[in-house]
Amino acid sequence: MKIVIRESADEASKIAADHIIERATPGMKLGVATGSSPLPLYKYLREARKAETFSLRGCTAWALDEYVGIAEDHPERYRNVLHRELVGDEATGLFDEDLHTPNGLAENPDAAAAEYDREIGAGVDIQILGVGQNGHIGFNEPLSSLSSRTHVDVLTDTTRQDNARFFENNMDLVPTQCITQGLGTIMSAKDIVVLAFGENKAEALHQLMEGGVSQRWPATILQHHSSVTVYADEAAVANLELLDYYRSTSG
Ligand code: F6R
Repeated sequence: MKIVIRESADEASKIAADHIIERATPGMKLGVATGSSPLPLYKYLREARKAETFSLRGCTAWALDEYVGIAEDHPERYRNVLHRELVGDEATGLFDEDLHTPNGLAENPDAAAAEYDREIGAGVDIQILGVGQNGHIGFNEPLSSLSSRTHVDVLTDTTRQDNARFFENNMDLVPTQCITQGLGTIMSAKDIVVLAFGENKAEALHQLMEGGVSQRWPATILQHHSSVTVYADEAAVANLELLDYYRSTSG
């Protein structure tokens, strides 16, 4: 695992965007996260598209997760969020039909989850991840199987509280269930970019990098992946025990 530390989320996101731009290949499969962490990175990908140094035209994008039962036109439906951030010539050049998201409106969400997992196939080329303050990646909450595939899950109150900011600060409006790529599915990505910003991620990042691998902190499974780069700001690295060493070796 590598870590790149910068003063601000914006500076770290610029380098994370360069990571993706440098490794992009025609037709690649890009795994995309929602939430606030990837927003500056997406801004830099759009800028690169404008500068004609990057394009997702002809590539496919694969969401990590989707709320179950959220209205089709709800602005916080992850398909709609990712559409706004990535789709079209004004964004990254991604075609709408190349944006893949789990079908949270399916009559049978379990079957939709299994279908999504089949579509992902052997895994994406580059996966972008945020991390929850309870250590979730995707919506694999504590006690998720470390080898799970895409499945329906129940959101913890911590996560619903965290996400209430997207739902009029009212936790009761946050859906209770989601379809999420499993930890096994996420681990099938060839390369993984983790974004960790802000002091509320400090303990999760400490566990992700330095804790024992356990279901209690699902992100710790990333220690078993051979190509993970963490992009963090100063606030998020506050709890790292070997911080001086990481600074001396990081880019
Ligand atoms: C989003 C997702 C979540 C978020 C995590 C961090 O698709 O799967 O794991 O990445 O909850 O959220 P933010 O970035 O809003 O702090």
